[in-house]
Amino acid sequence: MDAAQLKQLVAQAALAHVPAGAILGVGTGSTVDCFIDALADNGMALAGTVSSSERSTARLRARGYTVLDASTVERLPLYIDGADEIDYDGYMIKGGGAALTREKIVADLADEFLCIADESKLVTTLGRFPLPVEIIPMAAAQLSRRFALLGGRAVLRQGVVTDNGCQILDVHDLAITEPLAFETEVNQWPGVVTVGVFARHKAKRCLLGGADGVRSLNF
Ligand code: A5P
Repeated sequence: MDAAQLKQLVAQAALAHVPAGAILGVGTGSTVDCFIDALADNGMALAGTVSSSERSTARLRARGYTVLDASTVERLPLYIDGADEIDYDGYMIKGGGAALTREKIVADLADEFLCIADESKLVTTLGRFPLPVEIIPMAAAQLSRRFALLGGRAVLRQGVVTDNGCQILDVHDLAITEPLAFETEVNQWPGVVTVGVFARHKAKRCLLGGADGVRSLNF
């Protein structure tokens, strides 16, 4: 099975976890695109959705789902999203699609984060995938120097402006052995909007697609 087929597989498997008639938190990315299509193709009714990006909002609306403003919702039972990397504790790197800030906001509203991914995303230590960090543009050089002190090589993502009007630094060559401490530290640096380590908002469960089908990792 190729990566596209694995995404379809986990998207389909995620349907069984969607609480009937709930308001659902919806992430961003190619795996989530498959999930939105699977929801619609299977005629699954929802009371509404809260979306983590303009991209997912457009797709949800096109498939007939109501997208609510996050500020009108107090809690969500579930947030479903992909990841760029996930480790054996459910800690993740996210933001490859530049939607990390809204993803973390919606994840924070949810009681549970369900990650859907193919098995290439499973790692022992986070950091092989360049870490996305959403930043205020004037802090780019200053933040790059801070990452260099941690052994990271920060590269400004060219031609990308986030849904929030900010920029993305992709930080290469990091080995994030303590995701919680790392997230806490980087969050405090002036100019950082959101760091793409999801440790405080880690996955509760991951549906991982591989050659042998979908396995469920619980954290
Ligand atoms: C979006 O900003 C990201 O966090 C995505 O969740 C992540 O990049 C996974 O995307 P794919 O499902 O396209 O691999």
